[in-house]
Amino acid sequence: MTELQPIPDDWTYAPAPEGRDIVTLQPRYGLYVGGQWLEPSETYTTLAPRDEEPLAEIAQATEEDVDRAVTAARDAFANGWSSLPGSERAKYLFRIARILQERAREFAVLESLNGGKPIKESRDVDLPLAAAHFFYYAGWADKLEYAFPNRRPKPVGVAGQIIPWNFPLLMLAWKIAPALACGNTVVLKPAETTPLTALLFCDVLRQAELPPGVVNIITGDGRTGAALVDHAGVDKIAFTGSTDVGKLIQRRLAGTGKKLTLELGGKAANIVFDDCALDQAVEGIVNGIYFNQGHVCCAGSRLFAQESIYEPLVDKLKHRLTTLRVGDPLDKNTDVGAINSRMQLEKIEELVASGREEGAEIYQPPCRLPEKGYWFAPTVFTNVAQSYRIAQEEIFGPVLSVLTFRTPEEAVEKANNTPYGLSAGVWTEKGSRILWMAQRMRAGVVWANTFNRFDPTSPFGGYKESGFGREGGLHGLEPYLTFDE
Ligand code: NAI
Ligand code: MG
Repeated sequence: MTELQPIPDDWTYAPAPEGRDIVTLQPRYGLYVGGQWLEPSETYTTLAPRDEEPLAEIAQATEEDVDRAVTAARDAFANGWSSLPGSERAKYLFRIARILQERAREFAVLESLNGGKPIKESRDVDLPLAAAHFFYYAGWADKLEYAFPNRRPKPVGVAGQIIPWNFPLLMLAWKIAPALACGNTVVLKPAETTPLTALLFCDVLRQAELPPGVVNIITGDGRTGAALVDHAGVDKIAFTGSTDVGKLIQRRLAGTGKKLTLELGGKAANIVFDDCALDQAVEGIVNGIYFNQGHVCCAGSRLFAQESIYEPLVDKLKHRLTTLRVGDPLDKNTDVGAINSRMQLEKIEELVASGREEGAEIYQPPCRLPEKGYWFAPTVFTNVAQSYRIAQEEIFGPVLSVLTFRTPEEAVEKANNTPYGLSAGVWTEKGSRILWMAQRMRAGVVWANTFNRFDPTSPFGGYKESGFGREGGLHGLEPYLTFDE
């Protein structure tokens, strides 16, 4: 095969910063309850992970605040929202979707500032998909009788929704859009490190003239989340986050009769056969693990290379890594942005150190990381045994572990050798092999010759410790409905 040429030293990119003036930050944010802003009794500071710049003071909601929010949601449910015709509920959802599109740049800049993800990802992925979810579920709001014929679908009531920091606005959309389409009201808690786009979303609700109390946004850390889970007035909990917290929530809800869906971690296998289009596969591997700094529950964090192509694949991959631009999330050229928080950075560092100690070989391309803020270079581990922690545990960072296989049977066995089961990828020229593999892999989503593709019409969710319940598609309506049966 042809030699891979080094990148010429003088090939640099001029900075292309996205302006941040479009975002107006308030110094301090309250809690959005019943369509009003409540003064918080306690606050904390939210930061920009790229340089630790303090951005705003955020409310830490107490148990009383949670109670106010649930009460507001209950009142809104009882006083009109749940009995509104579906076609009327749809109008609000369509409005929200359109306003998100109109204000997309503002939201994208804020998302990158508060979360650290590259602006090209928030602009081209998070925002379009968030709007698409509202459009999609708006379309279902008046068709529930057709979606579930003869089952008399009814809303569940008040939904408590707890979301993580990796796709803040998108996870909000995944939670709120189906809940409202089905006639529920909502109390949503964003993650403590990334509350700002959820708080800006309250202004979208105001613009859309959504009746007060239908959506309530309360901020705070795990204590606020726990109070929401435990509140007797909540009928359903939807959670996306770590498997540990998911298990805790499941234990607390056992016997309460509250409905629950959990979307938890992952350790996806990305399986590359020797008959695939190798350069395309390299792009898919890079997208699979370095997209959003690897803060992705369905990230392709375990690469399985067929032995016959192991060497050229790893060579091409390492070469491709040298071309990734790591840096300012607000620069339009950036491929890999900042790690979301100090806590997450420390977790990545700890797992990477364990990989070295256990005997894996590490590769990181030469790149200069900014001095302030939270940063981690794109990393590939080779010589990885299946028993290593880096092959077992979710790192949730830009770190790939490369393993090998010889036969399709061996690939399936190794891919399924994980407590998780959220997603997987297969790269091969043969359609029959794709179907053969997809049938055997215990994963909620199996991508073929692509990775990290999302669409609101397609259900997403896990097997095993990756959780249960589906979001997206017709399946995503079901957790927000009860049926006369
Ligand atoms: P986490 O599970 O603690 O946080 C997710 C959300 O749950 C946040 O809104 C948080 O405030 C809330 N929460 C925390 N404790 C709670 C409790 N006891 N009751 C109710 N809500 C609670 O995740 P964390 O600590 O931010 O990240 C730890 C690891 O979890 C990551 O390194 C990653 O491996 C995994 N993770 C997976 C995600 C996914 O999308 N599947 C998202 C975020 C983290
Ligand atoms: Mg936690």
